[in-house]
Amino acid sequence: MSLLWTTQEMVAAMDGRPLGDLPEGVTGISIDSRTAGPGDAFFAIKGDKFDGHDFASGAIANGASLLVVSEAKLPALGRLIAPMIVVKDVLAALEDLGRAARARSEARIIAITGSVGKTSSKEMLRRALEPSGEVHASAASFNNHWGVPLTLARMPESAAFGVFEIGMNHADEIRPLVKMVKPHVAIITTIAAAHLGNFKNLTEIAAAKAEIMEGLVADGHLLLNQDNEKFGWLKKRAGALKIAHIHGFGENAKAVYRLLNSKLLPDCSTITARIGGDEVAVKIGAPGRHLVQNALAVLGATHLAGADLAKAAHALAGLSAEKGRGARHRLAIDGGSFLLIDESYNANPASMRAALELMGDMPVRLRGRRIAVLGDMLEMGKFAERVHRDLAGPIRTAKTDMVCLAGPEMKALRDELGTEIETVYRDQAEGLAEHLKSALRDGDVVMVKSSLGIGFGQIVKALLDKFPALPDSSTTE
Ligand SMILES: Nc1ncnc2c1ncn2[C@@H]1O[C@H](COP(=O)(O)OP(=O)(O)OP(=O)(O)O)[C@@H](O)[C@H]1O
Ligand SMILES: [Mg+2]
Repeated sequence: MSLLWTTQEMVAAMDGRPLGDLPEGVTGISIDSRTAGPGDAFFAIKGDKFDGHDFASGAIANGASLLVVSEAKLPALGRLIAPMIVVKDVLAALEDLGRAARARSEARIIAITGSVGKTSSKEMLRRALEPSGEVHASAASFNNHWGVPLTLARMPESAAFGVFEIGMNHADEIRPLVKMVKPHVAIITTIAAAHLGNFKNLTEIAAAKAEIMEGLVADGHLLLNQDNEKFGWLKKRAGALKIAHIHGFGENAKAVYRLLNSKLLPDCSTITARIGGDEVAVKIGAPGRHLVQNALAVLGATHLAGADLAKAAHALAGLSAEKGRGARHRLAIDGGSFLLIDESYNANPASMRAALELMGDMPVRLRGRRIAVLGDMLEMGKFAERVHRDLAGPIRTAKTDMVCLAGPEMKALRDELGTEIETVYRDQAEGLAEHLKSALRDGDVVMVKSSLGIGFGQIVKALLDKFPALPDSSTTE
């Protein structure tokens, strides 16, 4: 395996002090001692709960080739004998290495932010670009003050494309990160109520996302969602910042990357879109209007990054919904089967609406029911009661037959729904899992969605444990 970094390059980039018998270089970077392995440099980062220095010997035991530790913590490492680069501050060293990765790279760099759809778009873009060259992209949702520098530092010199997810909970978080990433193309997927607790209103959220513009390279391209209510505001901000190229994507007739036609099917979507003067037909291998939106941004970025559009369009057919983000399971139950849609990874008002809309579009057989299993949306601050209550509208529109709720905030929705739709409420996810195990029947479509912290993953697990999986997960029949 070729080296990601020579030790010499690392020492120079991080202004570090080599200690011990250093290897020639490393093939990977890790900040988690449990997954650090042979060839890796383990960076002993101090997080909210843990200090990586306490796990340095564990990283070495797992085979890590090199430690990056802080001068101040050196005495506490005692008699640990291992190759090390000693630095003043380990996170700052990782950032320095990230900057060095960016400086040496000839890749086209794309950065993605937005209230929802960052990871979905990043994975779609990874797929779209892969036929055109080596793609380096963030792992999972590595989008914060350690995830972004880590992803940068891991970027191989050979990468042709780099795709970075950048997230935030507060104002001023995106700016320093995007200034490290220096994208050629920046995408703001959408502005919606997420992490609303830390903001006064949607405009403040838009302003925080707009920080991504400040890291664009001088001749960079910005992709904005032209169907979003904050499009005008963001465009104006981009104008004020003298962003060289501003492009809209969406259904809006004025959008540069524009949806011409779409067919939303239960297990996929087929669309035609105008991308860079061409009319492109695309099959998106996972369902939902929200993924169609993301696909327009992805196709736009593909075009702007100079990648092969036809190959990208073809590649999107291979997309599938991921665990916790719409993955589907057809499970056997007495006399037939039911469909489980796992949306347990994340929830905010925008993604709740998207998931309910998708459930509403699912065909349901005669005896089957649409069942929405919903848990609290976290980080909504003083808006919590209202945004939970407001889910009643999309629930009705989705022709929901039964609503199963858990979590303190969902009481507001329970009260709003009253007796209009059969509603079951439990304090905790466990209670709902028990209820569902006996209430489900042949033909049902069950959609499970909540913020991760509410633990609705265990409802999905309980159903997967109890009911045997059938091979065909894509349809309702
Ligand atoms: N454009 C969109 N509009 C509404 N919902 C979306 C959109 N894109 C994805 N979703 C849904 O939102 C949820 C979160 O998606 P995703 O993980 O891509 O978001 P994210 O922005 O990366 O979130 P996080 O801030 O947790 O990293 C999923 O349920 C997904 O199906
Ligand atoms: Mg994410």
